[in-house]
Amino acid sequence: MNITEQDLDYKRIPTHIAIIMDGNGRWAKKRGLPRVMGHRAGIKTVREIIKSCSELNVKILSLFAFSTENWRRPKEEVDALMDLLVLTIENELDELIGNNIIIKTIGDKGGLPKYVQKKVVEAEEKTKKNTGMIVNVALNYGGRKEIVDGVKEICKKVINNEISINDIDEHLFSQMLYTKGLPDPDLLIRPSGELRLSNFLLWQNAYTELWFTPVFWPDFTKEHLISAIKDYQKRDRRFGNV
Ligand code: IPE
Ligand code: IPE
Ligand code: MG
Repeated sequence: MNITEQDLDYKRIPTHIAIIMDGNGRWAKKRGLPRVMGHRAGIKTVREIIKSCSELNVKILSLFAFSTENWRRPKEEVDALMDLLVLTIENELDELIGNNIIIKTIGDKGGLPKYVQKKVVEAEEKTKKNTGMIVNVALNYGGRKEIVDGVKEICKKVINNEISINDIDEHLFSQMLYTKGLPDPDLLIRPSGELRLSNFLLWQNAYTELWFTPVFWPDFTKEHLISAIKDYQKRDRRFGNV
């Protein structure tokens, strides 16, 4: 059965969709290509999914692009990913600005190479006055690191007498995270057949609906996105209630 946009309930589009963009390497391997070709092919999907989410009136799209653990990969692959990121910003920035997209990043930007930091900051600066969909790119992002950094920040506030221990609650703590000000993801999509979070938005995904597909990220299309949203609309989100 072909799933189309007509099948969606436009009143119940998830506000925030998070995607773990996985499977580029295996996509390339299946074709006898070097892994980096998979990453390149994945950029086309990023373009298509940003466009589709924006058309469907999704407000926030969080994309996991590089994890704190991805530094373990061969230097050659890490370098290629960093170059690809810079190149993509260079190629796409004008169109993103024209499409009213706001680029934000989450993760430890300071740990990225300087030339990457510069481009990323440029993308954030040049899109910050836009009013459309937020594309939140997770770069050098790790959920555990984010939580530990948040704990350090809140400890400093206690030591400096800005807050007392009794002021600390879930809401205040969430303001210490990279995602402060953003609502939690409603729907998390992971392609590539892996059924895990891989350290992505551990705090924020507490009540997120999860959707998995064996399709590799370069083969992921608008139709898969619509299918995920359609499944999401059938779910009963109880949040612990009855
Ligand atoms: C996801 O694809 C992209 C990044 C992690 C940067 P992978 O490179 O993890 O692809 P697989 O999982 O090896 O197929
Ligand atoms: C998660 O994918 C990180 C990104 C998609 C950026 P990985 O490919 O790094 O995750 P694991 O190693 O399979 O858990
Ligand atoms: Mg992977």
